[in-house]
Amino acid sequence: MVVAEVIHETADAKSFVLDVPDALSEDFSYRAGQFLTFRVELDGVAHLRPYSMSSSPLLDQRPRVTVKRVPGGVVSNWMNDALAPGDEIAVSVPAGTFVVGGPGGEIVAFAGGSGITPVLSIVRTVLAGRDRPVRLLYANRDPSSAIFRSELEELARGSAGRLAVTFHDDSERGILTPETAREFAAAATGEFFVCGPEPFMDCVLDALADAGVPEARIRLERFTPAPPAEAEAEADAGPSVRAPVQVSFRLGHRRVSGEARPGATLLQSARALGLRAPASCESGSCATCMARIVEGSARMRENEALTSDEVAEGWVLTCQAVPTSPSVRVVYE
Ligand SMILES: Cc1cc2nc3c(=O)[nH]c(=O)nc-3n(C[C@H](O)[C@H](O)[C@H](O)COP(=O)(O)OP(=O)(O)OC[C@H]3O[C@@H](n4cnc5c(N)ncnc54)[C@H](O)[C@@H]3O)c2cc1C
Ligand code: FES
Repeated sequence: MVVAEVIHETADAKSFVLDVPDALSEDFSYRAGQFLTFRVELDGVAHLRPYSMSSSPLLDQRPRVTVKRVPGGVVSNWMNDALAPGDEIAVSVPAGTFVVGGPGGEIVAFAGGSGITPVLSIVRTVLAGRDRPVRLLYANRDPSSAIFRSELEELARGSAGRLAVTFHDDSERGILTPETAREFAAAATGEFFVCGPEPFMDCVLDALADAGVPEARIRLERFTPAPPAEAEAEADAGPSVRAPVQVSFRLGHRRVSGEARPGATLLQSARALGLRAPASCESGSCATCMARIVEGSARMRENEALTSDEVAEGWVLTCQAVPTSPSVRVVYE
């Protein structure tokens, strides 16, 4: 892709509008809330990072991502400091399950900091295309760090009452408490979307659990992986198969099968068998690697992307799934 435009949003965030070549426009069609994975090579080292689109597939001609600096972060700072209009950048096709698709009713969204990017896309798309009302709680350190603040205020003014935004600024009200989140969620019957820093997400999820919101109605997007120590401890506790496992994979017309290394994830096994299996974050957050187990079973070390209904239907995140049966058959759909 070529970077068509760079927009200065706040002191530590910029948006990048991308030019999609005509020949690739179908491949790059996306749903509101999805992300693109960027491949950035710096000093000979390749880094893969997912960035959610803040643009709306219904309203904007070109996709736009918005990147906030992470202190000490390799790619977010490089993009903010160096990526300029006219530059070329390698980007993989859209992916992700943080999308609207539930039973209808109100959309209730909680966004913290850069978590506003996919949420803005969802809010604008829902307001443009459907009749559903939207309520958004948007938390930030202070008013100046709130990306898209004036755009959201304008959207709410022009929405004929369909969009209500509550800005929560830590500098004025302290960090968000579960009580405030619970009050905000009260009596909502539709779909819930939560995206933000870990403590913010934990606070909102506790509040939604207390308010009795079923897990199946909550969509999460985690920008940061769980600490590796936790994932490993959980993995060690589970009953993965220690003997060699027979695995087979189908991706489109390609089929591969063979013996997997004990303890290897399905993604690692697929790669070892020569399959170019899809993946992005490789930390259980993005669902790019999701596939369905049609025979056998596996246990996920981390799952921040699939709902319990999807898991019950046999979907797994292959980057996190370790076989728990002597043979496993996997289909990428
Ligand atoms: C599905 C998905 C969508 C995402 N969408 C966006 C988006 O729209 N906009 C956006 O700005 N970012 C988004 N991210 C986060 C982004 O992919 C990078 O993780 C982030 O920019 C940091 O990368 P880095 O190379 O700068 O930092 P790294 O060099 O990878 O990390 C440096 C340090 O910062 C920590 N860290 C990593 N990410 C974060 C974070 N988000 N907040 C706080 N600390 C962190 C790491 O644990 C590490 O210690 C998304 C992540 C996922 C999984
Ligand atoms: S690659 Fe992101 S969840 Fe597996």
